[in-house]
Amino acid sequence: MKAWLSKLNADLSAAPASPEALALDELSHVLPDLTCKAETVPEMGESYRIRRDADGSLILSGGSTGILYGAYALIRLVLAGEAIPDSLSSAPRYSLRMINCWDNADGSVERGYSGRSLFFEGGKLHYDPLRMRELGRLMASVGLNVLCINNVNVHFPAQLLLEDDLPEAAALADLFRPFGVRLMFSVDYSQPMRHGIPTADPLDPAVQAWWKETAARVYAAIPDLAGFLVKADSEGRPGPFTYGRNHAEGANMLADAVRPYGGKIVWRCFVYNCRQDWRDTKTDRPMAAWDHYAGLDGQFADNVILQIKHGPFDFQVREPLSPLLLGMKQTNLAMELQLAQEYTGHQIDLYTMIPMWKELFEELPAGNIMSLAAVSNLGRDENYTGHPLAAVNFFTYGLLSWDPETDASSAVSQWIRLTYAFSPADEQTLSAVLLSSRRTYEKYTAPLGIGWMVNPHDHYGPNPSGYEYDLWGTYHKANRDAVGIDRTAKGTGYLLQYPESLQQKYGDPETCPDLYLLFYHRLPYSFRMKDGRTLIQRIYDDHFEGFAETEAMAKALESLPFPDSDREIISSRMSRQLHNAKEWCDIINTFFRRLSGADDACGRMIYD
Ligand code: GCU
Repeated sequence: MKAWLSKLNADLSAAPASPEALALDELSHVLPDLTCKAETVPEMGESYRIRRDADGSLILSGGSTGILYGAYALIRLVLAGEAIPDSLSSAPRYSLRMINCWDNADGSVERGYSGRSLFFEGGKLHYDPLRMRELGRLMASVGLNVLCINNVNVHFPAQLLLEDDLPEAAALADLFRPFGVRLMFSVDYSQPMRHGIPTADPLDPAVQAWWKETAARVYAAIPDLAGFLVKADSEGRPGPFTYGRNHAEGANMLADAVRPYGGKIVWRCFVYNCRQDWRDTKTDRPMAAWDHYAGLDGQFADNVILQIKHGPFDFQVREPLSPLLLGMKQTNLAMELQLAQEYTGHQIDLYTMIPMWKELFEELPAGNIMSLAAVSNLGRDENYTGHPLAAVNFFTYGLLSWDPETDASSAVSQWIRLTYAFSPADEQTLSAVLLSSRRTYEKYTAPLGIGWMVNPHDHYGPNPSGYEYDLWGTYHKANRDAVGIDRTAKGTGYLLQYPESLQQKYGDPETCPDLYLLFYHRLPYSFRMKDGRTLIQRIYDDHFEGFAETEAMAKALESLPFPDSDREIISSRMSRQLHNAKEWCDIINTFFRRLSGADDACGRMIYD
């Protein structure tokens, strides 16, 4: 990522005067021989048009940020070695293209794998203005426009962003403005109670008045604040349930407060019982979000956006699309992705996400959502993402949030070309490694849609029973005969939350796609897969293959001419990935062999 930025020469030591000025400055460095002109058409907003004038100069028209996005689209093409087209025009598919940072005021980052927070230290905002501008450029260069800087779990003193720390927060917003990036804050639903109000009940007039006054103060300081992000009644956070109110009542109260300023309330739907008894077979965690929200469709204010994790669980390697993303037609929705590799290798193991996101969009009509959000994978490390190759996830997320039709392989190739000066053959090698990395990770970790076989809490490395008798609702129930949960109508009924066509697609184990098999069905180890293998043999084969593919990836990466600084990090992380893949392969295979007693048909080493 640093490498991509380093190809842009515009000096960021001072604030750019405006997005248009920045656009022309960036272009003059990348295309020094070409005359470029900007034509501001405010009603074009974030969209842009680029054309050639009779004298050969390039004219960029658009709203102020549109011109900036047009300039970066052009720069990406030029730096990737593609021809400058005679005309190019584009408009973003989604209006809010958000990055959610889970940064705490003490400088730590929840689920952060790239060093400490870029924004906070010691309970205060604390940042390097130059890096903030680099980050603004980084976001603008791929079309991202909203940055929520603090963790959805709002731990004290992060609340002070709306209070004593507001002037500093406003100064931070100023730094991002020329890049078309608007700030957002995560808020604590019980914040009025810090001010002598005995309740946070959304229907209480004193609570409503407090939020209105607060919104007025915050918007006076930061008039273009995108809004507030809320995690309520989830994993111990406060929320309207305490007062017997539903989430439409809870969200609409905040929406009223920010409405006069054009603000949005982004309300997360990650609500489930996180104190489940593993003996309870009636409660099925993936059903929770639908049960809480589907009945409220149409009741949310027009400036509320429900932010829904892409799957019904929690960012596992393989989950079906959340049924809420298909079923809430009268509500503004955002899909939440996670760039931070919490369950997907901690930015040690390679895991390129765009193939997974493209699969989600195959089932999600693009018009069902109006925004995209992603949990950030950035931190204070020199290269921002810890693992240099994890930057591909940030880059491709931006392109996809602008245009969900973005092709995975072209986006990855563009990133490689902007980042490294590789030969076509080397580019091809790296692209193949990146594009297959998710599937490889999936093969050596939890099998066929089961998920959750990770070490509890930290979520790196194998622990097949780690969450089995815990209170988080994440069970596979493997015994000597069978594994998985029946989520069809005959089982928990989860599948009934989907439209009929998807019930058909997933409901019968004979036709259900293999990769989702154990998410939807409980099956005996002797179950015959579509290719004739037994389920247990498929589990063994996938794990051995996953490890073998990791060894092949390691060899492929070794052959590539990375710059020294990247090479060192890439190879040390790859040795850790190899160790991790071997642990997963051996532990999961041993776990299932001990249970099932089934031998591997190929006679490979599985432990007793
Ligand atoms: C996961 C994650 C938490 C996070 C939560 C959320 O449970 O492990 O760290 O707070 O998701 O999305 O709110």
